[in-house]
Amino acid sequence: MTKVTAIYPGSFDPPTNGHLDLIQRGSKIFDELIVAVLRNLEKDPLFSVSERVAMLEILIEDYRNVRVDTFDGLTVDYAAKVEATCVLRGIRAISDYEYELQMALMNRKLQPGLETVFMMPAEKYSYLSSRLVREIAQLGGAIDCLVPSLVAQKLREKMDIAHKFADAETIRAEAERAIERKTKPRKRKS
Ligand code: PNS
Repeated sequence: MTKVTAIYPGSFDPPTNGHLDLIQRGSKIFDELIVAVLRNLEKDPLFSVSERVAMLEILIEDYRNVRVDTFDGLTVDYAAKVEATCVLRGIRAISDYEYELQMALMNRKLQPGLETVFMMPAEKYSYLSSRLVREIAQLGGAIDCLVPSLVAQKLREKMDIAHKFADAETIRAEAERAIERKTKPRKRKS
């Protein structure tokens, strides 16, 4: 029987429990599953590509038929390069469908031999997205039940660095204002 390789392309910034759920499901139906992190220079990511790859590599350790890779350019070209015949994508809610359908049909137009397989993550992850996780983490909310513990830890480290940076900026701005007050000539009372 022919071996079926699928790619699971995405940004994974950061990987969430929903991504992991899909990886687990995908690993059961494909002979090989490649989690493909997009190297997108246009976006301003929270985690660098190498940080995301490092996290994903630990998260997929238990799956013997799953590996992590990065790609740029078209998904269809990357799929051809790794000889994948399927693209795995998750659909959480009907709101995902329109965008995912458009992408799947466009990929089919570009590469008719490439099939997109949609899988639904567990219901409890249907509202979960990397964008919301980033926002919640940035605003100090609880993220522990949304992402694997490793990712939660990395998010906390990122936020600590960001807060320290913000504190340093505040101190610098206050010092600048104090110097300005001291050096500015005072108006004489008439
Ligand atoms: O996790 P995301 O951000 O929803 O993933 C989107 C991704 C990476 C699957 C999509 O942006 C993509 O395929 N980008 C590669 C460029 C490409 O092939 N564009 C045409 C898609 S029809």
